[in-house]
Amino acid sequence: MLAVQQLEAGYGESVILRDVSLKVQPGQVVCLMGRNGVGKTTLMKSIMGLLKARKGTVLYGGQELTKAAPGRRARSGIGYVPQGREIFGQLTVYENIMVGLEASREKGVRSRSIPEEAIAKFPVLPTMYTRRGGDLSGGQQQQLAFARALASKPELLLLDEPCEGIQPSIVDDIRDVIRSIKADGKTSILLVEQSLDFVKSVGDYFYVLDKGAVAWEGGLEALGEEVIKKYLTV
Ligand SMILES: Nc1ncnc2c1ncn2[C@@H]1O[C@H](COP(=O)(O)OP(=O)(O)O)[C@@H](O)[C@H]1O
Ligand SMILES: [Mg+2]
Repeated sequence: MLAVQQLEAGYGESVILRDVSLKVQPGQVVCLMGRNGVGKTTLMKSIMGLLKARKGTVLYGGQELTKAAPGRRARSGIGYVPQGREIFGQLTVYENIMVGLEASREKGVRSRSIPEEAIAKFPVLPTMYTRRGGDLSGGQQQQLAFARALASKPELLLLDEPCEGIQPSIVDDIRDVIRSIKADGKTSILLVEQSLDFVKSVGDYFYVLDKGAVAWEGGLEALGEEVIKKYLTV
């Protein structure tokens, strides 16, 4: 469904990703790991089109999207929950979710209301529609970021460190949301996450980035101490 092939990307003079190839198959939760600064967010931005690839290709559902603008990728069915959530603090909760609806593939959807799929997993959000996004707690903002991404009914959801800066009690809720999205069977997930316990509890397949490339990949049973020591501990 998603295939990134030999991707090179960076900022200005610096090359961050040299040769990254990875795949997400339908229905999978694929986890992307690696130490701080290794380029995980850079890869997410490159898949979303917020950063131009210098070499390589991004294929999605058989279409080549390597040069497509972020809006077209969103309309092709890719949803994005960015690192740090990036909620619009001055907009209301309702307006934040409507921003996600703009990316919908369905024609004429813009004038319509928020789809049930976006908020079904977050019953607290409709009770807060008139509040400003900036006034919500970290955990509530993360729910809002999920709802905003789900508003366009994505077939692939990119999640960049959704548990970062979130209270441990809410981390369990985020795990439940990811499992529930998977159980619905309509959306694949590419998840960047630092916590090994967390990725092991939701992931089907794992990639580790190091030195600008995929240094390791494999299934749950292969993700052992050796890999962790070599690529993930500081
Ligand atoms: N906008 C930017 N301009 C220049 N360098 C950046 C920018 N964003 C990130 N970097 C650099 O790119 C490298 C990879 O960053 P990032 O993709 O955020 O890593 P990760 O998400 O794995 O922690 C880091 O060295 C970081 O300093
Ligand atoms: Mg990051």
